[in-house]
Amino acid sequence: MGTRESLTVVDNRTGKSYEIPIADGAIRAMDLRQIKSGAEDFGLLAYDPAFTNTASTRSTITFIDGDKGLLWYRGYPIEQLAEKTSFLEVAYLLLRGELPTARALEEFTWEITHHTWVHENVKKFMDGFHHDAHPMGMLISTVAALSTFYPDAKAAQDAGQRDLQIYRLVAKMPTIAAFAYRHILGQAYAYPDNDLSYVGNFLNMLFKTTELKYKPEPAIERALDVLFILHADHEQNCSANAMRSVGSSGVDPYSAVAAAAAALYGPLHGGANEAVLRMLRSIATPSRIPEFIRQVKGGEAKLMGFGHRVYKNYDPRAKIIKKMADEVFAVTRPSPLGGIARELEKIALEDEYFVSRKLYPNVDFYSGLIYEALGFPVEMFPVLFAIPRTVGWLAQWQEMVGDPEQKIARPRQLYTGYARRDVVPMDRR
Ligand code: SDX
Repeated sequence: MGTRESLTVVDNRTGKSYEIPIADGAIRAMDLRQIKSGAEDFGLLAYDPAFTNTASTRSTITFIDGDKGLLWYRGYPIEQLAEKTSFLEVAYLLLRGELPTARALEEFTWEITHHTWVHENVKKFMDGFHHDAHPMGMLISTVAALSTFYPDAKAAQDAGQRDLQIYRLVAKMPTIAAFAYRHILGQAYAYPDNDLSYVGNFLNMLFKTTELKYKPEPAIERALDVLFILHADHEQNCSANAMRSVGSSGVDPYSAVAAAAAALYGPLHGGANEAVLRMLRSIATPSRIPEFIRQVKGGEAKLMGFGHRVYKNYDPRAKIIKKMADEVFAVTRPSPLGGIARELEKIALEDEYFVSRKLYPNVDFYSGLIYEALGFPVEMFPVLFAIPRTVGWLAQWQEMVGDPEQKIARPRQLYTGYARRDVVPMDRR
């Protein structure tokens, strides 16, 4: 007899046994509900704080093998995509499921290029931010505000409307990010230049000064394009979960992207690249590395840029970024912190404390060194993560909207609070 794809569970409280089907390496949590200790019992729940062992969806977008250190977008290994494609090709792949033909890419690029402008009123409230406002805070609130300019975005069930909002969001994130950067510098906004590539135009809006036409440095344009490819999606990470959960209420994609960007802002997630630079700067010299490592082992500090919920091997993106760093340093300037970063990595890959916890460099460890070499202030690092990840969030949102198994996300809880009690009048409290 073939192996039965099921669990046989015996409830020792009642002696009853249950057959629970296994499909795709999982059981349905709802199949536990039938297991009751008596007529009054609600039925078993699966308890999983932070969803460490819970699949929230089926997905065909991104595949990660944490033990082998594999990352595929729609089946294509990240190493090949980084070497052989452009960010907009990858955006098309993630959103449409296949790599584009030359014609399809031309049409997709035209759509993105012709949605890069924002309403002039956007500048008015961006001007209202304090001069030293964190650009991620500006990005999150400005993306949410975009929902007020596009009331038609509420029709998330209409595929044509969805595509239009997707074009707008992919196209406008670099514009808003660049405007935020120029705001904190106290510089006038530089408008999009439709003759440039997606990344070239982003560099233009960031760095154009008095020249009539900004010309991006090709090596930097390519480096940022590859970094955008590497950051585009990563299956059900914290911010993708936020995008899906908030989006499941039927809200417009601008509000959902703002929620996802807020999740990414955290130092344990996309804010880690900024935290890595601050950590390296606080260490400052190789001689202070041993003391810092002692603090990490004592639980007084985290080795930012290391560790991952899924990767228990080297993050494949970190490998590519580390190799790229030397190419960028060749056209900019070597990072004074590069030596400390490499020494930290060497220790972490040899020291039992880190090896036993399978803490390897993740995508955020080396990316910050490149962003610093490109002249970005650390506050812009999570913004540089959010721009490409907007494509991933939208691909996840689009898949959720189209998934007949999905509905509004509403987890249960294990109540451990007071039993019923009566309110005591104020004079007797
Ligand atoms: C991203 O999910 C994604 O895919 C995210 C991402 C994406 O592309 O979307 O890959 C992007 O967010 C990368 C991660 C960036 N964050 C950081 O670099 C921050 C530092 N890393 C950690 O905070 C941590 O590793 C997490 C948050 C990334 C993962 O945390 P987990 O899975 O909850 O692991 P854990 O905290 O349970 O750690 C297991 C053990 C613990 O030690 P013990 O309690 O068992 O003694 O490892 C220790 C942790 O204390 N540990 C670390 C550590 N990370 C974990 N100790 C020191 N330094 C660290 N960085």
